[in-house]
Amino acid sequence: MKISLTVSDPSKIEADLMVVFVGKDWLKEVESIGKGAARSIIDVAKLEMFSGKRGEIVSLDIIEAKTKRIVLFGTSDERKIESIYELQNFFGDAVRKTQKKGRKKIAIVVNPNLFENFKVEVISSSIVEGAILSTYTYDKYKSKKDSSSKIEELLIYTKPSNLAKFEVGVNKAQIYAKGTILARNLVNEPPTVVDPAYLAKNALEIAKNNKSVTVTIFERDEIKKLGMNSVLGVAQGSDSPPKFIKLVYKPKNVTEKKIVLVGKGITFDTGGLSLKPASSMETMKMDMAGAAAVLGVFSVIEKIRPSLNVVGLIAACENMPSGKALRPGDILTAMNGKTIEVLNTDAEGRLTLADVLSYAVIKEKPDAIVDLATLTGAMMVALGEDITGLFSNNNSLLNNVWKSAGEAGEYVWKMPMPIEYKKLIKSQIADVRNISTTRYGGAITAALFLEEFVEKTPWAHLDIAGPAFCEKPFGQFTYGGTGCGVRLLLKLLENF
Ligand code: BES
Ligand code: ZN
Ligand code: ZN
Repeated sequence: MKISLTVSDPSKIEADLMVVFVGKDWLKEVESIGKGAARSIIDVAKLEMFSGKRGEIVSLDIIEAKTKRIVLFGTSDERKIESIYELQNFFGDAVRKTQKKGRKKIAIVVNPNLFENFKVEVISSSIVEGAILSTYTYDKYKSKKDSSSKIEELLIYTKPSNLAKFEVGVNKAQIYAKGTILARNLVNEPPTVVDPAYLAKNALEIAKNNKSVTVTIFERDEIKKLGMNSVLGVAQGSDSPPKFIKLVYKPKNVTEKKIVLVGKGITFDTGGLSLKPASSMETMKMDMAGAAAVLGVFSVIEKIRPSLNVVGLIAACENMPSGKALRPGDILTAMNGKTIEVLNTDAEGRLTLADVLSYAVIKEKPDAIVDLATLTGAMMVALGEDITGLFSNNNSLLNNVWKSAGEAGEYVWKMPMPIEYKKLIKSQIADVRNISTTRYGGAITAALFLEEFVEKTPWAHLDIAGPAFCEKPFGQFTYGGTGCGVRLLLKLLENF
């Protein structure tokens, strides 16, 4: 989608459709479209009992304006839009609704005063992220592709005094959306295609296109040499060998500051010998969504140019049942020396993360680690399908991630890590067990398990099991991978 800004009078803008956002004072606001046009709009809108409330839409044809078809979108509501997440969804829904056969060029007119809680830059970036992400399609495997209702161009009107601010938002949003779409594509691609080698290849591709990014792929024997037995344990049931992927971004400035981003990279999760029921397996190609988010971040990191060292770590494995597979009752020794009693092979994400987090602490000695993982079904029981659970052992990092999520428009909620629950993952014969002794609080015990491998390093864990995949499209989200976490991480890199 081509996106441009214009300061020319709305009545002179030429497009297939003009979307005008208005509030309670819509009578006055439509005057921006030109006197004659405004009069016609007011006549029709009054007939339609339009009041400017959010959710109200009037569509009309105007002879007096260059763009003949105009749609008024109401924005006013007693319950004001509170978050950037909501704002992006609002614009996402609006743009999605305008899609129609033959409509290639859409003009948008928004008076920033309608959204007084938000900065002008944020309003413009939310329009663009909402528009690009809500109209994203994944039709690679459709034999007949329907591009007739694809919006090709978005023209956003602003008054000249806001132009610079609009520009900042538009540019930022395009970068953020690009990273998000890379992650969506990786999640949507079938799991036989996206195996560990495919993720490794993708990382190498990113390094090729970004001079400040270097990538190292550790093969099975190197993973073994590093002592990452927990990763090997998960991968041993699969015919696809594991790949441990390391991406390094070096900033132009000299700095010791370093953050490690870890993504769970299970390219398909069958549950292993603790096999999942068929219906739970349907969407398990998404179990690499954390890894996809990390790759999404690195694919655009040069455009953000954060002034700190960023390391991305992904242990890409496939969790399969077979004659060679890990068995319940097996004991694994992770890279940091801790022993893990495996009682359920479906709690495999935490096994791979145990080693990757250990690697991050031992080899990288970073200032902070942030991991993203489609870790537990229990997280979805707690927060539903659209909210990420945020856990941390460090208050200042926790607050930074929280703030960055809000600014990026990602919905996260803080979760507790009570020391009292540690006993639930104590093993009788090893240091820890990979599942809790109770069926309650599964997202929390999973986070407490991960904490065993980060010790005192400031660390935040994002359980994205719910929002990584969207089954019912809404707002900025389409069916399939959402690219959850990409924008949060990019914002965090800017704020760190
Ligand atoms: N990949 C799943 C978690 C998941 C479930 C992600 C649904 C997205 C949607 C994870 O590996 C898993 O299977 N976890 C188990 C843990 C249990 C065995 C303690 C779960 O949540 O059931
Ligand atoms: Zn699993
Ligand atoms: Zn999993």
